[in-house]
Amino acid sequence: MTPFRTRPTRVVAVDPIHPAPEAVRLAAEILRNGGLVAFPTETVYGLGAAALDADAVAGIFDAKERPPTDPLIVHLASPRDLDAVSARVPPAARALAARFWPGPLTLVVPRAPIVPAVVAAGLETLAVRVPDHPVARAILAEAGVPVAAPSANRFSRPSPTTAAHVLADLDGRIDLVVDAGPTTIGVESTIVDCVADPPVVRRAGGVPIEALAGVVPAIAAVHAAASAAEAQVAPGQLLRHYAPSARLTAFAGAPDAVAVRLAREARHQVGAGVRLGILAPDEVLVALAPAVAAAASGGRVVVESLGPWRQPEMAARALFAALRRLDDAGVHAILAAGPEPLGLGAAVWDRLRRAAEGRVVAV
Ligand code: TXA
Ligand code: MG
Repeated sequence: MTPFRTRPTRVVAVDPIHPAPEAVRLAAEILRNGGLVAFPTETVYGLGAAALDADAVAGIFDAKERPPTDPLIVHLASPRDLDAVSARVPPAARALAARFWPGPLTLVVPRAPIVPAVVAAGLETLAVRVPDHPVARAILAEAGVPVAAPSANRFSRPSPTTAAHVLADLDGRIDLVVDAGPTTIGVESTIVDCVADPPVVRRAGGVPIEALAGVVPAIAAVHAAASAAEAQVAPGQLLRHYAPSARLTAFAGAPDAVAVRLAREARHQVGAGVRLGILAPDEVLVALAPAVAAAASGGRVVVESLGPWRQPEMAARALFAALRRLDDAGVHAILAAGPEPLGLGAAVWDRLRRAAEGRVVAV
């Protein structure tokens, strides 16, 4: 990996629905000239570079300190552009694109030779999506080229859901951040491998698996790679993906049972002098309140809410920002509980399991 090239990073604020044309033109021009632009999508902020320009794409890996073995997602302005970057579009990909694009769904298809191998980490396949954020769509349309864009975080940090998160990780390493406020979904896109037959969900994300099965009934459910060997077959499925500096343990189960267990664990840890973070749905936090109140007043417990247990879409929106705040607060350990594991809840649980590096306790 070559060291990243330092440069001044400009920030332009835009309206999330009607971005100013000058800002869109600036972003598109930088992209066409081989520069790096962070922009909002409906899921998380992406770090874009012209996908057909191998040097520009190499810049993404440098700025993020991302291993070159981790392939990128190519973003398109319109579903019509799929045939330009794919050597052959499988029928399942067509059906899923027709139903879910633009939207938080990434499809893995055979890569067309026009797309440099560096984009796909040398794979013969390519991950592609058409995002559904007005700012992303305007920039992609104006740029007129496919744009490779991973999440705009430094490798092993949580994905960014605000421009401030992007700057915290990449200020001085990229040319521009287009700031349109917080993203609306908050977790990354669902990835479906359409080269596999039947198609396989490689990453839970913004489109619930239940919805995919409505279009492709034979679709196989997601599985996180347990071994390093398997992780190489399914890149990005590494169990240790984002890991907070604090040791995170996740507790799965009904909110009242989880609260009892968390209260016991919290008392134990605080008693042992641990500076503790708690990340949980409101129902769990309410039940925990008496146990943590005393410790919290001593500044030894930092609490982050994931919203109501039955509203996983709120947990998705809150998750990455909460993890960053806990990191920033310097907690030593995090006790976490997730929302109901339905719909977007599956994606939230996937991220929690990775952050926990497998330390998930069934209550
Ligand atoms: O919501 C999102 O998908 C965001 C926004 C910016 O679009 N992007 C994103 O990109 O999450 P990134 O780089 O953080 O995650 C891309 C992941 C890789 O880590 C890998 O798991 C998977 O996409 N991927 C990319 N190309 C692949 C391929 N050819 N086969 C299998 N998986 C692939
Ligand atoms: Mg990422």
